[in-house]
Amino acid sequence: MTAPTDTRTLPYGDAAMAEAAAVIAAGGCVAVPTETVYGLAADATDANAVAGIYAAKGRPSFNPLIVHVPDRQAAEKIALFDRDARALADAFWPGPLTLVLPLRPDAAIAGLVTAGLETVAIRVPQHRAMQALLAAAGKPLAAPSANASGSISPTRAAHVAASLGGRIPLIIDDGATSGGIESTIVALGGSPRLLRPGPIAAEAIEREIGRWLGRGADGKVEAPGQLASHYAPSKPVRLEATERCADEWMIGFGAVAGNDTLSAKGDLTEAAARLFDALHRADDSDAAAIAVAPIPDIGIGIAINDRLMRAAHR
Ligand code: TXA
Ligand code: MG
Repeated sequence: MTAPTDTRTLPYGDAAMAEAAAVIAAGGCVAVPTETVYGLAADATDANAVAGIYAAKGRPSFNPLIVHVPDRQAAEKIALFDRDARALADAFWPGPLTLVLPLRPDAAIAGLVTAGLETVAIRVPQHRAMQALLAAAGKPLAAPSANASGSISPTRAAHVAASLGGRIPLIIDDGATSGGIESTIVALGGSPRLLRPGPIAAEAIEREIGRWLGRGADGKVEAPGQLASHYAPSKPVRLEATERCADEWMIGFGAVAGNDTLSAKGDLTEAAARLFDALHRADDSDAAAIAVAPIPDIGIGIAINDRLMRAAHR
């Protein structure tokens, strides 16, 4: 447990980013938006700073973190890139793709970031706030989603404040994130595998590398984020619901209306951007349980259903 801290929220801007960089330089952690969800960033080269992330989140130490860097050149100082890795980086960075690659033996990354693994998860984010922080800090930044371990990922500064308020010094507020779902994670080196579905579809990755992606058919948990109940609201969640039962908060989609809707016009990208916000609202409502309309299992709908299945698992 960390001692209580005053948490300040500052709107994105030069002054806010300068303060954020100062917190990072002093070994602290800062919540900052990315194009997927808000992240809790700290200097990835500083073991104490990284320990601060684990402490603030209450995260089990076996769960490794994603390293964020400004560009592929910076990534190549940390991970070993093969042809597939370069092709994917060129096609999808900056953007919501995380690559799990062999860690360079000479990489200046704290062992706590990779939880002692010989691989590292790395990505180049697109969001202006995270890019500004990377530039100002001049260090790779380890950043998991900025929520207490096991709870719903934050897509707004207010979600971060509700989950981690009093445990971190600073939140940079740049509005709701555009993507709304965590990055796609692909492991390379050996046969390529999809570790977490996300905004970039598996098919788009397969087209780029000209090979099929394994989808963890052996059921082995490779990314701890794949643990069945990772994205859990505090209430029971019923999926594929076409009607609201008494005591339920209904999250609609398309023709199925609800107290809230992911997308009235049935747009999956809009639904992804709103998913966690809707789950937060459902959790905060007076209803005893949550019902969610069926979501088509295509495109980013696969990632939405992946998160919903975990939310429903108890
Ligand atoms: O969109 C995102 O990826 C957000 C933003 C903040 O960048 N971050 C995020 O981080 O979702 P986090 O820590 O909540 O999820 C990271 C996932 C976890 O499931 C972790 O187990 C997996 O990445 N991971 C990290 N390093 C790994 C490694 N070396 N091998 C396999 N999985 C790894
Ligand atoms: Mg997370």
